[in-house]
Amino acid sequence: MNEAKTPHPSLRNPCKAVPAPFERRFHEMSSDSPSKRPMTVPRFMAAKEQNRKLAMVTAYDFLWAELFDSAGVDGILVGDTLGMVVQGRSTTLPVTLEQMIYHGEMVARAAKSALVVVDLPFLTFQVSPQQAVENGGRVLKETGASAVKLEGGVNQQRTIQALSDADIPVMAHVGLKPQSVRKIGGMGRIQRDEKQLMADARAAEEAGAFSIVLELIPRELAKAISDELSIPTIGIGAGPDCDGQVLVSQDMLGLTNGFQPKFLKRYAELYRDVSAATERYVQDVRENIFPGPEHSHD
Ligand code: KIV
Repeated sequence: MNEAKTPHPSLRNPCKAVPAPFERRFHEMSSDSPSKRPMTVPRFMAAKEQNRKLAMVTAYDFLWAELFDSAGVDGILVGDTLGMVVQGRSTTLPVTLEQMIYHGEMVARAAKSALVVVDLPFLTFQVSPQQAVENGGRVLKETGASAVKLEGGVNQQRTIQALSDADIPVMAHVGLKPQSVRKIGGMGRIQRDEKQLMADARAAEEAGAFSIVLELIPRELAKAISDELSIPTIGIGAGPDCDGQVLVSQDMLGLTNGFQPKFLKRYAELYRDVSAATERYVQDVRENIFPGPEHSHD
């Protein structure tokens, strides 16, 4: 029998193959082609001075991270939204550090150009700056990601400072903070406390954050914060004047059926398309249309 094995998709195009450790190291060192250069924390920060908007999405596994990376995103966030969009929970609170490391490692291995940022989940940094450094350090060591993200501003200033002092790049996150869901009583409410939000953003920058997510705040306030800070602001539900944008990829691709907040633009309707494809497959199997002769071995 002449069984030609179909190579794994990542091996069909040698340019897309995942580099072995040595090649990856060489790749990280080479810097002749700016478009191919891996995004680093300093380059991410420099984008603001260069007036270049930053596009980020979330990803939680190798396949999607490879796809988004190839499509040219600047950054991939391994968000603790994985509790909701991957695990099917109603909040991010149950997500553990081990789970973030498990998913973060797959994403960082797939991303050849994008900056990979991994969320510190609930109660893995709030206890003390020391706890945050130990856990943030584990994330960098065990996943290969470039940075961690944590929710907080003024209330996490010492922690951001401690991480930054330990050379663990930190992206802060202010505005709507999903890990505070029990305290604020729900999600989806626009955050409008201008004084507090500006103070949070300033505190994060002063403490050494290299970037900051602004979630669900009015456009004018996001603009004021973006003008005030020298680090890039990454908005989600914060209008067009942020220095970059992030969306949960399942929302952006229309996989989270029925979730349609005002800020969300869907770039595909994958829930509909995948449902239709699966229904066709089921029908083909039941009617003995698949597999046909062209899918069968002599
Ligand atoms: O966890 C996450 O995916 C996030 C984004 C919504 C910014 O924090």
